Amino acid sequence: MSNTDRFLLAALMGWPVMHSRSPMMHNYWFAQQGLAGTYVPLAIRPEGLAAALRALHPLGFAGCNLTIPHKQAAMKIVDTVDDAARRIGAISCVTVQPDGLLAGTNNDYIGFLRNLRHEQPDWRADAGPVVVLGAGGGSRAVCYGLMQDGAKEIRIVNRTFSRSLGIVEAFDGPIKAYPWEQRHDVLDGAATVVNATSQGMVGQPALDIRLDKLAKNALVADIIYTPLESPFLVAARLLGNRTVNGLGMLLHQGPLAWKLWFGLEPVVTLELRTLVEKSL
Ligand SMILES: NC(=O)c1ccc[n+]([C@@H]2O[C@H](COP(=O)([O-])OP(=O)(O)OC[C@H]3O[C@@H](n4cnc5c(N)ncnc54)[C@H](OP(=O)(O)O)[C@@H]3O)[C@@H](O)[C@H]2O)c1
Repeated sequence: MSNTDRFLLAALMGWPVMHSRSPMMHNYWFAQQGLAGTYVPLAIRPEGLAAALRALHPLGFAGCNLTIPHKQAAMKIVDTVDDAARRIGAISCVTVQPDGLLAGTNNDYIGFLRNLRHEQPDWRADAGPVVVLGAGGGSRAVCYGLMQDGAKEIRIVNRTFSRSLGIVEAFDGPIKAYPWEQRHDVLDGAATVVNATSQGMVGQPALDIRLDKLAKNALVADIIYTPLESPFLVAARLLGNRTVNGLGMLLHQGPLAWKLWFGLEPVVTLELRTLVEKSL
């Protein structure tokens, strides 16, 4: 069946789920492409995830995205898990295969890389040391992406040291873990600094870090997008550093999901970005 012979369906499963901007983004693309279809937010309780995922095929869904708290749990439910999802330890995107089997992958890391390249075309992962603050799910995707992109030195700093060590062990690459107390000093000589903690998000206090060792030419990124400019990014911008917020990471993983679900890759337009920004 071609994409014009059926009503296209995809979903986001989360608990809660209504805060997400993903439906706005995907439904923008249905309209942009002139396709009949929809992307629905599905509030799925953790205990209902397996049944919900198995229902995708009989209901005619092409696939779904996963958000908190389902990204890790889905690893044990889907039929195949690719290398990216296995190493990141989380699935962000499920595709229903023609035979009904469920394939899990993680597009967050590509979203992260594409966002940086889109916002700062001359940025290179191997330009110098990269500091990643945080060691949760977002950080794992960021570290995986940086490694795929050829980063030669990744310094990871997290409040809970053992979690950083977990990433070092899982990725077996040029990543070194540093104690949280050293978060101010590891910025020394860094070409790129990424906040992948939840600190600075709406409702959370700002990330507690001094930027006096930050080089003027370092690129400073945050994967947070609510608020659009975190206190961490504000501080870096005021020092004269180039900054990139986290909204593009969300937007740029979307086309990859479309490619898997519907065989075409829509574009992240300025109009889409503005639409989502206005809703934040
Ligand atoms: N733009 C995107 O597409 C995208 C994608 C994924 C995530 N995100 C955003 O990234 C952020 C993190 O998400 P996540 O999924 O990685 O969450 P997570 O797995 O819960 O990890 C949270 C991280 O924040 C750290 N943290 C929490 N409270 C802290 C505190 N008081 N002081 C210092 N560190 C603290 C945690 O450290 P401990 O290990 O010590 O607890 C951990 O490293 C969220 O704001 C999320 O919205 C954005």
